[in-house]
Amino acid sequence: MSSSFGKNLKVTIFGESHGPAIGCVLEGFPAGFAPDMDKVTAFMQRRASRGQAGATARSEEDLPEVLSGLFEGKTCGTPIAAVIRNNNTQSQDYANLNVCPRPGHADLTWNAKTKGANDYRGGGHASGRLTAPMCFAGALAKQYLESQGVAVNASICSIKDHQISDNQDEFGLDEEARKIIEEAQKAGDSVGGIIECAITGLPMGLGSPIFDGVENKLSQAIFGIPAVKGIEFGSGFSGTKLMGSQNNDAFAYKNGKPVTKTNNAGGILGGITNGMPVTFRVAVKPTPSIAKEQQTVDLDKKKDASLEIKGRHDACIVPRALPVVEAVAALVALDLLLD
Ligand SMILES: Cc1cc2nc3c(=O)[nH]c(=O)nc-3n(C[C@H](O)[C@H](O)[C@H](O)COP(=O)(O)O)c2cc1C
Repeated sequence: MSSSFGKNLKVTIFGESHGPAIGCVLEGFPAGFAPDMDKVTAFMQRRASRGQAGATARSEEDLPEVLSGLFEGKTCGTPIAAVIRNNNTQSQDYANLNVCPRPGHADLTWNAKTKGANDYRGGGHASGRLTAPMCFAGALAKQYLESQGVAVNASICSIKDHQISDNQDEFGLDEEARKIIEEAQKAGDSVGGIIECAITGLPMGLGSPIFDGVENKLSQAIFGIPAVKGIEFGSGFSGTKLMGSQNNDAFAYKNGKPVTKTNNAGGILGGITNGMPVTFRVAVKPTPSIAKEQQTVDLDKKKDASLEIKGRHDACIVPRALPVVEAVAALVALDLLLD
């Protein structure tokens, strides 16, 4: 089993939620780039719990310790390895999850896959915590892309069935969304939402047919973010409700280059970038760990059981998943750009 993706820029994520540390190895990052490490840490803080509505009480410092690949403040072209220590774990909260798996989480499938050898504490390798090293790697990629005129920005479109208005707080939520999350938390429940992302500044012509197109690559990587259950590009599913004449993006010349007047294709035609912003939306499901009693099975006794989850969990992970989507999109964009 490996937890890697990418061709020119290869990302490997390692660690378990309640082990000594989690981390990443980033191979193929261009040499001679001087990342702003304060910016990297600030980006990672957007993912860590900082009191967003319904966020987990597990306080995570998420301070990356870079072990290799940086010399005198610059990338040196060799693999960049970084670790983030786990220091706020309460493993006793997770004592029985390999016997009574959480509905909606990966406890049962990991147990089956490893014949019970998985580190199930806090979700082990399937924990949302593993998105911290994704953010470290993505923060470096994002900064490099910025130096090349490429920007990656995501925002929250909706929480449950509520469309987010323009009046957002620092976590991308509006007042109604915060209320929905707080009510879910009070009820011992959880909610999901949709995140939209745009990559701007990519040139025309990136992506390879047929299985290495931009949609293929983004989908493979974005589904590496736990709790992601769907992705659509451009007009996506709503495009099916349009006529071809409405959905086609008319071409026109601008500054001597062919561009499209609309962007229903989400910047991708035939798996290849057309120079317009690459746009996609990601469905994030409601947090599986909820305080409410749930029905599960007892794998030891081989009978049905009920489960009350004691750990600390977000009633909504969408605000924390937001920078993770940007991070993973930046890693894919840089991988494509280095082709
Ligand atoms: C930033 C982030 C934080 C997460 N935190 C939690 C959490 O506190 N509790 C939980 O049950 N799931 C959490 N998840 C989701 C689970 O890790 C995920 O649902 C689980 O691994 C099963 O994978 P799947 O939903 O992709 O099938 C989080 C996901 C992300 C992206």
